[in-house]
Amino acid sequence: MSTKEQVVYKLVGPKASPKKEKATAFCPANIALIKYWGKRNSELNLPVTSSLSLSLAKGTHTTIQLADEDRCTLNEKVISPSEPFAKRLFTFCDLFRTPDTKFAINTTNEVPTAAGLASSSSGFAAVVVALNELYGWQKDPKALSILARMGSGSASRSIYSGFVEWHRGNQDDGMDSFSEPIACLWPELELGALMISEKQKPIDSREAMKRTKETSTLYRAWPEKVAHDMQLVKQALSTKDFTLLGSTAETNALSMHATMMGAIPPVLYWLPDTVRELHHIWQLRKSGLELYCTMDAGPNLKLLYKTADRAAVQQAFPHIAPISTRST
Ligand code: PMV
Repeated sequence: MSTKEQVVYKLVGPKASPKKEKATAFCPANIALIKYWGKRNSELNLPVTSSLSLSLAKGTHTTIQLADEDRCTLNEKVISPSEPFAKRLFTFCDLFRTPDTKFAINTTNEVPTAAGLASSSSGFAAVVVALNELYGWQKDPKALSILARMGSGSASRSIYSGFVEWHRGNQDDGMDSFSEPIACLWPELELGALMISEKQKPIDSREAMKRTKETSTLYRAWPEKVAHDMQLVKQALSTKDFTLLGSTAETNALSMHATMMGAIPPVLYWLPDTVRELHHIWQLRKSGLELYCTMDAGPNLKLLYKTADRAAVQQAFPHIAPISTRST
């Protein structure tokens, strides 16, 4: 048994027959305010640091149905089982099913796939929630978070709405590396997506994290930076301090990108327009409009601002797409 299979065995027992013909699930995408960047175990997706995110209203709808052979659609388009998306999905499903069980999987992403808007987070979480239903495991969110994490790290946070912390954990099998919601409702906080490019990213986050951890001397400073920022963001959430939240999320994201730029060869997701918009944000902030940004493994920016400033932000960035968050 692989280490992953052992974890699955511990959580849901031996592989069994599905209890239902079909199951459907939805999970929200999430945007990290404190980023996960780097694994201490790449088979189980165990992170070097804890991370903290905010779930979005949009995410992934997934239906899994028993079938004669594996089939898959993504956003209503048939995907060949040999394509990387389908391969990754069915290989993940193999952890849970017997060899004679085949699935027809329909996935609809409300956010662009692989454009740095966190669609893999909601994708793997929705698969796990659908499997929980299909197999009748009746697992609690903590166990589902551990299972989703093995599909994609950030998926462990997409099991929940609202603010979520993914604990790094210390155990080798990752049983203590799961996410939990943080009790905080903050409806005056808004996110907006500033799309720079919707193209598939040139290097995926898995490969980029690995290269950064192995070759970037700047990565040594990352765990300490995260520990410090984590404290500040938690303080910001408990006191509803927008300035502290936004400034900490921004410095955390920029520091993550700095560790990547120090990799050999360098990982640079930014495009010229990313830099132009960063300067625009900083210039607006200087002139009194309080907005901050965060970025993931892609060139796009996500702006953080207060609902009261929505009109001013929209005027400054006519192409901004408001992203509703999911707090219930
Ligand atoms: O879960 P992955 O392997 O797609 O990695 C996500 C990495 C970032 O989005 C850059 C950061 C994060 O915490 O979501």
